Amino acid sequence: MSKKTLLAILAIALVLGIGLTYRLMMMGSETQSSGAAAIGGPFELVNQNGDTVTQQDYAGKYMLIYFGYTFCPDVCPTELQVMGTALDMMPEDIAADVTPIFISIDPERDTIGALGAYVPHFHDRMVGLTGTVAQTSEAAKAYRIYYAKSIPDGEPEDTDSYLMDHSSFVYLMGRDGEFIRHFNYGTAPEDMAKGITEAVKSNG
Ligand code: NI
Repeated sequence: MSKKTLLAILAIALVLGIGLTYRLMMMGSETQSSGAAAIGGPFELVNQNGDTVTQQDYAGKYMLIYFGYTFCPDVCPTELQVMGTALDMMPEDIAADVTPIFISIDPERDTIGALGAYVPHFHDRMVGLTGTVAQTSEAAKAYRIYYAKSIPDGEPEDTDSYLMDHSSFVYLMGRDGEFIRHFNYGTAPEDMAKGITEAVKSNG
């Protein structure tokens, strides 16, 4: 191989390398920015006292949000219990800066009264939010929550004892409603407490 050919190969490799690095950097930044923009947004719902609220009512503090439904036999109560326990395990001043929020994806059965009877089981400061079908579906869409009615075998189409399939993430949102991080289903309360405490300390 002549010196000229070698130089040519090196030059091509250099150009390809720079191009690839640039593309990877762009991909990285796109993923990051779309990931941050993808979860959360404005909502208008009704709390367990019957007051209409928006995300603005919770601004200034962190929101710890979970979407589910009060008839849920296992997943929702388990996860809400984890949220409540995690808040009680954190340093008090940090916990006081976090509003735990349960948002219904089953507004037809989750009335204001049903939420009022449900959320205090998990934490004395837990907020329960419901609304019209349009309002809750809008909120779920903003948070990228999947949900669907699931009718048990043998039940009629219009049964009241249906289940809801739904995604099960706990979202930590910042003081301006921005997405900070999520916790997967099955996270231990002490890990959630630690994760929230670290996030509050580093975000201020
Ligand atoms: Ni559930």
